[in-house]
Amino acid sequence: MVHFLQTLGLVLTTASVLTVASPLPQPASELNDAPTKVKRATCTFTAAAAAIASKKSCSQITLSNIAVPAGTTLDLTGLASGTEVIFSGTTTFGYEEWSGPLISVSGSGITVNGASGSKIDGGGARWWDGEGSNGGKTKPKFFYAHSLTGSSIIENLSVLNTPVQAFSIDGANGLTLSHITIDNSAGDTGGGHNTDAFDVGDSTDVTIANAIVQNQDDCLAVNSGTSITFTGGTCSGGHGLSIGSVGGRSDNTVSDVTISSSTIKNSMNGVRIKTVSGATGSVKGVTYEDITLSGITQYGIVIEQDYENGSPTGTPTTGVPITVLTLDGVTGTVSSSGTNIYILCGSGSCSDWKWSGVSVTGGKKSSSCKNVPSPASC
Ligand SMILES: *[C@@H]1O[C@H](CO)[C@@H](O)[C@H](O)[C@H]1NC(C)=O
Repeated sequence: MVHFLQTLGLVLTTASVLTVASPLPQPASELNDAPTKVKRATCTFTAAAAAIASKKSCSQITLSNIAVPAGTTLDLTGLASGTEVIFSGTTTFGYEEWSGPLISVSGSGITVNGASGSKIDGGGARWWDGEGSNGGKTKPKFFYAHSLTGSSIIENLSVLNTPVQAFSIDGANGLTLSHITIDNSAGDTGGGHNTDAFDVGDSTDVTIANAIVQNQDDCLAVNSGTSITFTGGTCSGGHGLSIGSVGGRSDNTVSDVTISSSTIKNSMNGVRIKTVSGATGSVKGVTYEDITLSGITQYGIVIEQDYENGSPTGTPTTGVPITVLTLDGVTGTVSSSGTNIYILCGSGSCSDWKWSGVSVTGGKKSSSCKNVPSPASC
């Protein structure tokens, strides 16, 4: 048996192209029983089904010009620890009305990399109808980065035209996403809606660095989580860099979030924190530093504790306090029809704020701010 497995390991190690659905003469579980005796293979796949069938037996998975069939997830969940996934060439998806996701990856110590010149093309225009996730066609989510742990990395991906939300980061603990480009600019006139770039929930130690995003909703939305960093980003066309809405979910705690050295242009909002009316939870230790705004159409900075069913009520509540908030170097311009700064806090539910170098100009000065803690001002 030992001799057989060594032979098998050698075969797998030297195989560079595996395109059949079941290349292994033995089930994967048997291989896992002898991890020290079998070296996992370097695999290249040209079909999604083959990649999914053999994913656990490969140490490196190259996805070469994969056309994922309609209604199918490119399911790379449960990868063996330390697996490297490489998107190469152009990845495309068949059309079907369904909720997705188009891609899902989980595991520990996973690296996902886009090879030079590669693209992942969501073909979103086929679903876009201006309604996003609020109605119309059922649209597949793009990428579930769920349960990625142990210093996992998603890097160098060039994403085009997601049907609706792009990256859902959930249950992650130790995940870095860097140099990810999401170009949904065709959706500006083509009916793209709710195309959030990065939605973070229930996660710890997540870093998103050097993202370039053109979309029609939040560039970042942190709904819950601890030790979340977004840095070096460029966001255009969307709704800005957001915390929330916080409250009314299973996890309603946001703590230690740093959003730094980023640019937000031609967007509805710049810096935004929303908490849910009547809910409980907390937003503590959020820092925005070195943020540059331009072409903001609604609010340069907006912090409000009155969200209900996705819309502001105008009446703030106190159940999700926003404490230890730092804005340091948030500067730039709002269009003349927009508002520079809007802060709507409940009585006593915003405290321990630090503001320095905050200068947002060009828009209107709000006259409806409430319970603004010093040294902030509208
Ligand atoms: C991402 O691209 C850079 C530049 O080409 C490269 O140095 C880096 O190793 C790539 N990341 C991964 C995970 O392969």
